[in-house]
Amino acid sequence: MHAVREWLKHARSVAVLTGAGVSAESGVPTFRGNNGLWKRYRPEDLATPDAFARDPKLVWEWYDWRRSLIAQAKPNEGHYALAELEKRVPSFSLITQNVDGLHELSGSRNVLNLHGSIWKVRCTGCERESVDRQTPLPEIPPKCECGALLRPGVVWFGEALPPRIWQDAETATRSADIFLLVGTSAIVYPAAGLVQIAKASGARVVEINIAETVLSDRIDEFLQGRSGELLPQLIA
Ligand code: OAD
Repeated sequence: MHAVREWLKHARSVAVLTGAGVSAESGVPTFRGNNGLWKRYRPEDLATPDAFARDPKLVWEWYDWRRSLIAQAKPNEGHYALAELEKRVPSFSLITQNVDGLHELSGSRNVLNLHGSIWKVRCTGCERESVDRQTPLPEIPPKCECGALLRPGVVWFGEALPPRIWQDAETATRSADIFLLVGTSAIVYPAAGLVQIAKASGARVVEINIAETVLSDRIDEFLQGRSGELLPQLIA
C-alpha cells in the first residue's frame, strides 16, 4: 500500500480499468461470484444480439429491472476517491466496463464507457441514440418514433466495442505510468487485454479486488480488499 501511494504521488499519467466490483458497495449486483447475476441468469438468454432478436420483451424486462436497481444506487467512497485522484494527476483516464453511470455521478470527468450505458437506448431501425432515464419504462419493449424497436445502449457479448472509445482506452493505457485494475474479474476481452498492453508499455499495474483474479500473479502489486475502503486510503 505504501509503495503504491508513493507511485501515485509522482505519477504523470494514470489509467484505471474498473468493473462491477467498484459498484458492489453501492448495491449494484456484480456478474460473477456467489451473488452474481450470471449465477441466476444466463448471459446468452439476456445479453446477446441473438437473445434480443428472439425475445426483446424478456431482454428489456431484465434491463428494466437492472435500471430500477441502479436508479436507487449512489456512488460510494471508491467512486469518489477515483474522482479525486483525477484532479491530482496531470493525465487521467477512467476506463470502465460498468454501464451504471456512477463514475460520472461521483464527479469523474474523463470516463471511457467501454460497454455503453444502461441509460441509453438505440433504435434498431434508424440507429438514433438517446438517453432515457424512466424507470420503469412505460412500454416494454420500447419503440422509437420511427416505429422500430429500441435496444439498450450497451455492448452485448459477441458485439464490437465502440471503436473510438476503445482507441482512446488503448492510447490512455499505453501512456500510463500506473494502471489500476479495480473490481473486475478481468476475464472479459477486449477490456481485460488492456492489462497486457499496460505491462508491455512499462506501466506499473496495481490491482484492487476482494479476491485474487486470473491476472493477480502477473501484476506489480495486488491489494486485497474492498475498493470503497482501499481507494480512499490510497489517495489519503
Ligand atoms: P464481475 O462480476 O465478473 O467481477 C467483479 C469483480 O469484482 C470480482 O473479481 C470480485 O471479486 C470483485 N469485487 C466484488 N466486490 C468488490 C469490492 N467491494 N471491491 C473490490 N472488488 C470487488 O464483473 P466485471 O469484471 O465488471 O459485460 O465483468 C466484466 C463484464 O462481464 C461486464 O462488463 C459484463 C459482464 O458480463 C457485458 O455484459 C458485456
